[in-house]
Amino acid sequence: MSKARFMTLERHIIEGERMHPEATGELSRLLSDLAIALKIISLEVNKAGLVDILGYVGTENVHGESVRKLDMYAHEMMFKAMDHGGHLCIMASEEEEDIIHIPSDYEIGRYVLLFDPLDGSSNIDANVSIGTIFSIYRRMSEGGGPGTLADCLQQGYKQVAAGYVVYGSSTILVYSAGHGVAGFTLDPSIGEFILSHPDIRIPHRGHIYSINEGNYKYWHPGLKRYIKYLQEEDKEGHPYSSRYVGSMVADVHRTLLYGGVFMYPADSRSPKGKLRLMYECNPVAFITEAAGGRATDGKQRILEIVPEHLHERSPIFIGSIEDVLEVERFLREAEEELQGS
Ligand code: AHG
Ligand code: MN
Ligand code: MN
Repeated sequence: MSKARFMTLERHIIEGERMHPEATGELSRLLSDLAIALKIISLEVNKAGLVDILGYVGTENVHGESVRKLDMYAHEMMFKAMDHGGHLCIMASEEEEDIIHIPSDYEIGRYVLLFDPLDGSSNIDANVSIGTIFSIYRRMSEGGGPGTLADCLQQGYKQVAAGYVVYGSSTILVYSAGHGVAGFTLDPSIGEFILSHPDIRIPHRGHIYSINEGNYKYWHPGLKRYIKYLQEEDKEGHPYSSRYVGSMVADVHRTLLYGGVFMYPADSRSPKGKLRLMYECNPVAFITEAAGGRATDGKQRILEIVPEHLHERSPIFIGSIEDVLEVERFLREAEEELQGS
């Protein structure tokens, strides 16, 4: 019989905590509660083709985008699973304009949870991978009262843990508490996340770029030049392959495993890009850095951006360290040329 250890998410979290004698167990319990919500969402995502849940709800979220039913279902599941555990003082979701308080009849805890309940929602109807992203901070405000907006607006490097789930050909949860990154595949027959990727390390360089090339016309000249450079054939490792799912979680997950670079840049139509700093960029930046990669907005580290608004956006360049440094160089050099001319 194989000697491989059968490691559930639960056991992995508990064993990780044993290495930190000062830990109270609260974060472990929080993650266990979260895992339940993620399993429920996974189940619903898999059923989405069978039940009358597809299609627009007919409302728009705070970003002015159409909200699909599954987005709201995932949002509600996250809230319901996390409101009463006594671990959180506040939550915020991509699907809700304001911070979300813990109902007054429940205990208030020390942690802050931010989440994108369903990422890649435009892909639902086409059966393409979608996901959920979460980000956990320690509360900043003093006392045991309700959390505040300031508790949510922390710089990304202060995250205690972050993770995402991809509902793909299988459901995988990838998470990091800062030291290393582990992936757990959901075994649907027993309803457990089982450790399948014990120590994810991103290659220093990849051969794949990932960007919505339809926006080419609106890009910075440095980015245009960089993509053309990747397509040249007379350089070692070139031309790069192009892959773009259109669900950030899936594109980032592939980038983490295979290397390369995922980009959602600013452009002349969207000066801050599209992706949201608190729900999308920070958690994947935290995970990617913990796996040995790099994540910037083209100029500065995503994790050092000081957030001003709950729903603010940021450009993002994320992936293999050498690839991200290279795109930054192209942007910088083109910018210097523009300034000089
Ligand atoms: P969400 O479904 O949470 O609104 O996020 C969609 C995002 C992200 O998943 C993806 O990378 C990006 O939108 C794709 O945008 P484009 O269609 O502009 O390429
Ligand atoms: Mn999203
Ligand atoms: Mn979303």
